[in-house]
Amino acid sequence: MTSRIIGTGSYLPELIIKNDDLSKIMETSDEWIASRTGIRERRLVKEETTAYMSIQAAKIAIEESGVKAEEIDLIIVGTITGDYITPSTACEVQAAIGANRAAAFDVNAACTGFMTALHTAYAYMAAGVYDTALVIGAETLSKIMDWDDRSTCVLFGDGAGAAVVKKDTVGLISMVQGSDGQKGMNLSCKNRESKNPFNQGKDTIYYTQMNGQEVYKFAVKKVPECISEVLEKANICTDEIKYFILHQANMRIIQSVAKRLKVSEDKFPISLDLCGNVSAASIPILLDQVNKKGMLEKGDKLVLAGFGGGLTWGATVIEW
Ligand code: ACO
Repeated sequence: MTSRIIGTGSYLPELIIKNDDLSKIMETSDEWIASRTGIRERRLVKEETTAYMSIQAAKIAIEESGVKAEEIDLIIVGTITGDYITPSTACEVQAAIGANRAAAFDVNAACTGFMTALHTAYAYMAAGVYDTALVIGAETLSKIMDWDDRSTCVLFGDGAGAAVVKKDTVGLISMVQGSDGQKGMNLSCKNRESKNPFNQGKDTIYYTQMNGQEVYKFAVKKVPECISEVLEKANICTDEIKYFILHQANMRIIQSVAKRLKVSEDKFPISLDLCGNVSAASIPILLDQVNKKGMLEKGDKLVLAGFGGGLTWGATVIEW
């Protein structure tokens, strides 16, 4: 027995911010952003919250899956931008959809968040603990951006994607996951500092900081490596894979991965041009878009691969 994705859903905020809109409020241009990243626009929240977007995506995935909310045993949300420190976004989703039997928690693995959540669900199921899981990647990255730092804020967007996973005879084939904490400070966002009546703590609010070139070097090396490893584990070659659904950070990273794997770029669907980098939400949003366009047939083999803050990475081979 393994477990299979049986429904997907996604939600993008209504507010569309094009590169030209950014160039009106900071020194940047459509040419700079598009040529370096492939991003042309992104969605940013107005009223929406991380939980709200998660709930919308979850409802669509649940409806497509045909399972009832009460049948869900486990809800995991990959996010670094939950609305509360506690309760978790997963607990907020549980309450909203009425998945009263479910255990619910969030995982923090930045842009690898959805992959880590999915792998955790797979592992629980393989251990025979649970049968049906709701896995979500959701981010409101706009609230942790320094909007005076043009080198980071132009890259990111907000949104959520979800998948329902159920025990089945086909589905997950292999998975790999890893991290390199030594390189963690190349992409960081500091939390509130300790402040109490007995120390000199500060009230500073911190924002995302990135050493773009180091993250780029990490991604173009580690992503093809972990995809090769997960394919080897599955005993499957790249020719047998219909699509490579990668974390949508940067078009140049995706092109480099395709080149290193000697796979046509046509096998790498893209959403970053219209969504920007949505961190943990990017893979489930893209998977849902590919699914909803009718591009997937039963039996198709896919690679999903995420990478990012931590630094972390994870890849999986699945049969649809
Ligand atoms: N508009 C115009 N100019 C800009 C902007 C901007 N938005 N941002 C930076 N610049 C300027 C810089 O100030 C610099 O100017 P200078 O030469 O006068 O000092 C110049 O552009 C070059 O800056 P670099 O940071 O060296 O630009 P680089 O070519 O490295 O591109 C980028 C930056 C796109 C972030 C690149 O490093 C990259 O692709 N990194 C990969 C990391 C990534 O995609 N991270 C996403 C999040 S992490 C994740 O999801 C895993």
